[in-house]
Amino acid sequence: MLKGKTAVITGGSRGIGAAIAEKLASLGADIAVIYAGNQDAADAVCAQCREQYGVKAVSYRCNVADFNDVKETVAAIRAEFGTVQVLVNNAGINRDGLVAVMKEADFDDVIQTNLKGAFNMIRHCSPLFIRNKYGKIINISSIAGIMGNAGQANYAASKAGLIGLTKSVARELAPKNVTCNAIAPGFIQTDMTKQFDKTNPFVASIPLRRMGTPEDVAALAAFLADSGSDYITGEVFRVDGGLAM
Ligand code: NAI
Repeated sequence: MLKGKTAVITGGSRGIGAAIAEKLASLGADIAVIYAGNQDAADAVCAQCREQYGVKAVSYRCNVADFNDVKETVAAIRAEFGTVQVLVNNAGINRDGLVAVMKEADFDDVIQTNLKGAFNMIRHCSPLFIRNKYGKIINISSIAGIMGNAGQANYAASKAGLIGLTKSVARELAPKNVTCNAIAPGFIQTDMTKQFDKTNPFVASIPLRRMGTPEDVAALAAFLADSGSDYITGEVFRVDGGLAM
């Protein structure tokens, strides 16, 4: 149970992040949802958490790629909730293209949001975890970060970088009883993959023969956020129907 704990979920307004926010709320956690632009969607997730599970839930507009924006947002969350015990770095973007013609801005934006964004959040939440001698950090990577993917050099690099970040933070903060793990989803049905038709022949190459759901990812995030995973750190877990094994 996560009663009395505060969980921050970046990109919590939709897709995988919204499913994680609602799952952690169902286990009793108070929820801070960080969103980039869609306030209505973020507020709807918070309202659902409050009404269905009776927890506190507040949304914060913040660009995770911006160091100072994150600093101010974490300070605002601390003022509202007291402290933070769980951080889920889920916010992410893709700007796919072949490397030979990829725009510099598309490379930079993806690294800045997916990798630097996670660093920014960890940088500003870690002092709270260290003070509490407790913390659970969960970084949402991707199987693209494990296998690479043609057309996603920027995205795969950012997601592979997240794995290095996860293992380094895990080693550094382990003496403070802070764990840091990564989840590497495969193909999950969200806005990010809406161009993917469920009947795409690619889906047939997934051993479990279907795309995943945000709830498939949220179930693992809940395990990693709770005390049952206290002795697990620096690990990367695939949630991909067997695709990358
Ligand atoms: P999505 O596009 O539905 O949601 C992404 C969320 O991140 C949105 O709430 C968006 O507002 C937020 N976000 C984007 N840039 C931001 C910024 N600068 N600051 C704050 N928030 C920002 O994507 P989805 O599919 O739910 O993905 C969530 C995470 O899972 C991403 O990191 C993605 O890379 C990863 N992932 C998704 C897979 C999939 O098949 N859908 C597969 C593997 C990983």
